[in-house]
Amino acid sequence: MADQTPADSTPAARRLRTIPLFTQLSDEEIARVSAAARERLYPKNSVILFEDDPGDALYVVLSGEVKVVLIGEDGREVILSILRGGDFFGEMSLIDDQPRSAHVIATEASNLMVLRRDEFRECLEQTPRIALGLLRALSRRLRRADDKIGGLVLLDVTGRVARVLLELADEHDGERVPRKITHHMLAQMIGSSRETVSRTLRELADKGLIQVSRKDIAILDRPRLEDLAGL
Ligand code: CMP
Repeated sequence: MADQTPADSTPAARRLRTIPLFTQLSDEEIARVSAAARERLYPKNSVILFEDDPGDALYVVLSGEVKVVLIGEDGREVILSILRGGDFFGEMSLIDDQPRSAHVIATEASNLMVLRRDEFRECLEQTPRIALGLLRALSRRLRRADDKIGGLVLLDVTGRVARVLLELADEHDGERVPRKITHHMLAQMIGSSRETVSRTLRELADKGLIQVSRKDIAILDRPRLEDLAGL
């Protein structure tokens, strides 16, 4: 019978199944979320949401990459996080009814799944397992934010650079940081200047801890980097 077709038979439902927030859901629950969601393409450098705007939707990254940033009055950017396929954002305003806590900008052309406020709330009410997944992800995010605060307060610039390199390498293959993460971006992640980051990378390379090449930054001596990073 047509209405017994498994939910995963639609491309949107199959994609949803690969998103950590939704992997535990039943076919019926996946079908419900997938019927409510829309997909949207955002070109590189487009602003997906603005800090202080009212929040009206939750976004899930299906492909591409976005950065969560704060922008100071002098135009300086602090990168709070970089999110990729499977990550979500925009949940905070929907949960606490406060304005957006940060800007989110596409760093690559990105395909996003958009779930409007009412649909998100309805999914949460009807599918408590989504709420559990959300809480788990928020706890992970808070741990990372705590680590970051600890690093900013307790580590010198070399330690902060070592820590962010290890984090970024671990998000990739454990051995290298792709070159598309520029020195400027590294600086924006650790609250420093591009010049200081470039100098620190040269020092770490001279000591044989990393190797900087055109295509990436390779981690050569993880134990010594971990030591510098207080890990
Ligand atoms: P919201 O405040 O609605 O809009 C901005 C979004 O950025 C926010 O929801 C979160 O989804 C995301 N965000 C804010 N701070 C962080 C952070 N420290 N790490 C990862 N994502 C964040």
